[in-house]
Amino acid sequence: MNNWKVKYLERIVTPKQAVMHIKSGDRVVIGHACGEPPSLIEALVSRAADLIAVEIVHMVAMGPAKYAQLGMEKSFRHNAFFIGASTRKAFEEKRADFTPCFFSEIPRLFKNKILQVDVVLIQITPPDEQGYCSFGISVDYTQAATECAKLVIAQVNSYMPRTGGAKIHLDEIDFIVEKDEPLIELNPPKIGEVEKAIGENVAKLVQDGATLQLGIGAIPDAVLLFLKEKKDLGIHSEMFSDGVVALAESGVITNRKKTLNPGKFIATFLMGTRKLYDFVDKNPSVELHPVDYVNDPYVIGQHEKMISINSALQVDLMGQVNAEMIGSRQFSAVGGQVDYVRGTSRSLNGKSIIALPSTAAGGKISRITSELDRGAAVTTSRYDVHYIVTEYGAANLRGKNLRQRAEALISIAHPDFRVSLINEAQEKGIL
Ligand code: COA
Repeated sequence: MNNWKVKYLERIVTPKQAVMHIKSGDRVVIGHACGEPPSLIEALVSRAADLIAVEIVHMVAMGPAKYAQLGMEKSFRHNAFFIGASTRKAFEEKRADFTPCFFSEIPRLFKNKILQVDVVLIQITPPDEQGYCSFGISVDYTQAATECAKLVIAQVNSYMPRTGGAKIHLDEIDFIVEKDEPLIELNPPKIGEVEKAIGENVAKLVQDGATLQLGIGAIPDAVLLFLKEKKDLGIHSEMFSDGVVALAESGVITNRKKTLNPGKFIATFLMGTRKLYDFVDKNPSVELHPVDYVNDPYVIGQHEKMISINSALQVDLMGQVNAEMIGSRQFSAVGGQVDYVRGTSRSLNGKSIIALPSTAAGGKISRITSELDRGAAVTTSRYDVHYIVTEYGAANLRGKNLRQRAEALISIAHPDFRVSLINEAQEKGIL
């Protein structure tokens, strides 16, 4: 038997035995998004009564995040790089913390020991003949945390697709839990009329041969609906989802014209349904790499015709984009938005697009405002911003002065709010 096979068998434990090695006060990093290891998290949470002040570091938690639920606060303190549905309440109730960080820079926090990693909980594929496992759908910061952790605990799950790019050898793993279970899935979002209109406006900006980055949610998916007539699109995106599979199967996405990594879908994590996971499984044209490569603005900028498509909650008349806060309430985080806005600005014939509905709260609130709400943070600055798109059109802000920006943004605001926006802009001396 190969040496690694012997070691593999020696390292197999139950989930309960694996998490017995976690101590009070440890910092535990959890593999990202749909790639999180459910069995290991469940086992850790069931040790709550024995543990005090274990810091749980995670970004987009797609599982129930029981460690952040009420009653867990003495045992676990969640430190989030992103606030999502399952962790928002804990943060609002001061039972969790939020650490602002560009997605591309998270690996550096671990590598430079700014956040020392004691334990990492990951989910990977079974080993290949040489003893290498694939990180599957989450490489992002998961690989860096694994390299830096004092203790590596892995759930080996045959449902995990084997993706190209980053991999891990069994020698680097301390404890292995074999547990086959379906991965967490993200169902395609509902796309309404407003999203469709935005999608159509964004699609008009996409040239044949462009390389795309798509954020999460209804707007990026709506854009994909209107790209069916385009030719030779490529993907270099922090993540992609089911919508990309349909365009790849119909021959619209070929990756042929990419000026970096031609022929390849490049991503750092994936979220979707089993359809996506089957598409990427052993697919030689799909590679997942660490986020400090995929989201590095320098790498992004090497693609000609790079188009980034992200969303926001609010944009002011100077072009400052708030994509993460509703007033002083932290709703999400920067994710990879600024990595792509900055990278795309270096791309020859590139366009960074922030696409958002013109209103919120059933039409009662304009998302284009004379100033950002009190307490809100600027996610993409007015110096970095390029295109803003709503269902009413596209405003190209690059090279425009403040008066021209205000005019362009008011022209794509909801008609019900245009007069009040003009009045406010005049009061502020912008117009
Ligand atoms: N004032 C008050 N409420 C607002 C608002 C505003 N200006 N803008 C939005 N809201 C409300 C909406 O009405 C909605 O409420 P509901 O859930 O009760 O209907 C809620 O906030 C969420 O808004 P929505 O536009 O539906 O959010 P989304 O799910 O489409 O996500 C972002 C939009 C901006 C939060 C999300 O794209 C994000 O987090 N972006 C930053 C990270 C990023 O860009 N990553 C890129 C790579 S993945």
